[in-house]
Amino acid sequence: SKPLSIAVAGLGTVGAGVLKLLEANAGLIAARAGRPIVVGAVSARDRTRDRGIRLETLRWYDDPVALAADPGTDVVVELIGGSEGPARALVEAAIAAGKPVVTANKALLAVHGAALAEQAEARRVALAFEAAVAGGIPAIKGLREGLAANRLSRVAGILNGTCNYILTVMREQGREFAEVLAEAQKLGYAEADPAFDIDGIDAAHKLAILAALAFGRPVDFGAVHVEGIRNVTALDIALAGELGYRIKLLGIAARTPGGISTRVHPCMVPVAAPIARVDGVFNAVVAEGDFVGRVMLEGRGAGAGPTASAVVADLIDLARGRHTPVWGAANGALESVPAEPMERH
Ligand code: NDP
Ligand code: HSE
Repeated sequence: SKPLSIAVAGLGTVGAGVLKLLEANAGLIAARAGRPIVVGAVSARDRTRDRGIRLETLRWYDDPVALAADPGTDVVVELIGGSEGPARALVEAAIAAGKPVVTANKALLAVHGAALAEQAEARRVALAFEAAVAGGIPAIKGLREGLAANRLSRVAGILNGTCNYILTVMREQGREFAEVLAEAQKLGYAEADPAFDIDGIDAAHKLAILAALAFGRPVDFGAVHVEGIRNVTALDIALAGELGYRIKLLGIAARTPGGISTRVHPCMVPVAAPIARVDGVFNAVVAEGDFVGRVMLEGRGAGAGPTASAVVADLIDLARGRHTPVWGAANGALESVPAEPMERH
């Protein structure tokens, strides 16, 4: 049957990873998607840069927003990043043009997710974002589909691979913060501006998305209390270890008597707790539901391969004609949850 033709904006760590995965696993992806998924058009800033992928046969656009109007494109994949600028303009243009969008851009969704969802649902266009939370972990599918029957009381986890990598390597190898951050950047884990990672903002973006899914509330990044790991020292980590704790940057969203509390900050976690043993670039997403109890998903939270895996999972869904409304199993899910006020900090 007719291939699904995609346009990819952004050919950095994730974009190049997606093209490599689509090529390496083309046969099994076509079988699972019911048709081949092919890249027709691409955009990035520097056309001459060697990305380890073949671009000669693809339609190149200097302006990523123009991909939305590319006549051969069925689905637009936004992998540029940032809550404003070309990423936002492209996603809005694609939705307006009636083209489904796949994005890994948690900043965009945390800041503009409510408006984008409205636009997408008004046009009945899919907006898929499995890669936006916890890299390769199927966290969005897990919450939205696997736990759909539960009333959730809590969703929490290690949501930033760069921070977890830094805290782990500082603890295990006694190395300096700045040196380990530089290594995480080289490995493709960090955001274009790594302050988003180490100041907890990236984890807060992801937590805002998880909270919207878990509690059927519009995404509200402004409600998240945010503190990063910039001031965590090697001494803090060593002292915590002597007391039987690990320091982890956690994101926690929970129902409280005052409303939904959402916060990101470094936590002391007892070494015996399963989440204390989630190390390196690995993330964990923990959810507590009234019938399922406690569930923990663990996997690589950043990097080309894991993130591409999540992006392509969304593409396979779209190729098969699956369309899930942005924040819930159905729009009605949003209305059925009591309107608890967000607790503000
Ligand atoms: P990179 O910085 O590696 O890549 C960004 C890409 O966007 C580059 O190809 C760049 O072009 C292109 N780009 C930037 N600005 C423009 C512009 N104005 N016009 C056209 N192209 C532009 O980022 P990542 O691949 O790491 O991240 C991409 C997205 O995925 C972000 O939203 C990020 O938050 C998200 N993400 C990243 C993960 C990771 O592990 N890295 C994991 C999960 C999500 P050029 O190459 O020419 O400079
Ligand atoms: N910079 C992010 C991280 C990428 O380190 O977790 C994955 O979202």
